[in-house]
Amino acid sequence: MILITGGAGYIGSIVGEELLKDGYEVLVLDNLQQGHRDAVPAGAEFVLADIGDSKVMEDVFRRFRIEAVVHMAADSIVHVSMTDPRKHFQNNVVAGLDLLDAMLTSSVRKLVFSSSAAVYGDPKTTPIEEEHPKVPTNAYGESKLFYEGVLKWYRGAYGLDFVALRYFNAAGASQRLGEDHHPETHLIPNVLRAALDKSSPVTVFGTDYPTRDGSCVRDYVHVVDIARAHVLALERLTELSGHVYNLGNGEGYTNMEVVGTARKVTGVNIPTKIGPRRPGDPPTLVASSMLAQQELGWKPQYPELESIVRSSWQWMKEHPHGYNR
Ligand code: UFG
Repeated sequence: MILITGGAGYIGSIVGEELLKDGYEVLVLDNLQQGHRDAVPAGAEFVLADIGDSKVMEDVFRRFRIEAVVHMAADSIVHVSMTDPRKHFQNNVVAGLDLLDAMLTSSVRKLVFSSSAAVYGDPKTTPIEEEHPKVPTNAYGESKLFYEGVLKWYRGAYGLDFVALRYFNAAGASQRLGEDHHPETHLIPNVLRAALDKSSPVTVFGTDYPTRDGSCVRDYVHVVDIARAHVLALERLTELSGHVYNLGNGEGYTNMEVVGTARKVTGVNIPTKIGPRRPGDPPTLVASSMLAQQELGWKPQYPELESIVRSSWQWMKEHPHGYNR
């Protein structure tokens, strides 16, 4: 059985869905602070708990035959990490260490870790390769980088096998599961929300960056493609142990271009307004995922921004109030 921490969240739920498709048994553990009970995929076991609760975690490892953990439970909102870094370090580092304690106590030594493009900070070269210097520009990225380091040391000392996946900008939806954050801070759902409700324009944060139209550039990657990378990593965890892979499409789009694609997909002239820069945002983040393709055998099935936005739009139209019907 595979334990997914944060498995009721946006990406975690879709990782669960893909694992179930491949015949794995799945246990979702989530404190539902950001996750949704209705996002737990059908067929998965569910435990409402916090990874920082050592007693409960030890009990979970006793009750279920867990072979490996996909660790996705984390705080992940970049600008919040700038004003409230305590919460990010507490949840992403301290509670993450508690999880590793519970795993080692129970002799579970396999882990796939959700890391982030935020570890690189403001990149010196694009597309970003895994060896690029890592100088996070926000506390979120720092917390992910720190945890990657912990995993490296635990691998050497305790024989923990891990693969870390650095996601660039996860977007899109599966047929049943999609993105529902409160508040929503991500660009694509906010743009599509403005297509549903034209009375509230989407704010584009900053048009004075050194990019082709002044708005930030990001590399959007379909959430189902991200989920598939976890399945591949789990299949070959021992062989690939200690490796870290970027997950992106190697193609950057400005925030304005995303609005343009969303206008095309929705057929709505989505209203926008220009706001100030958002603290902690690097101007450009575009991945080289050559290593994931060569070593993991990862091949994105939905690399086109348009198909990513289309799947988000489909899900939003079917779930205009998210999971709270
Ligand atoms: N943006 C807007 N308006 C919005 C929302 C976002 O202009 O309403 C802009 C942001 O300022 C940024 C871009 O759109 O320039 C993308 O922002 P997102 O919030 O969608 O995504 P981020 O790049 O900030 O962060 C996401 C994940 C992080 C991860 C990062 C890696 O939330 O966890 O991708 O690239 F680290």
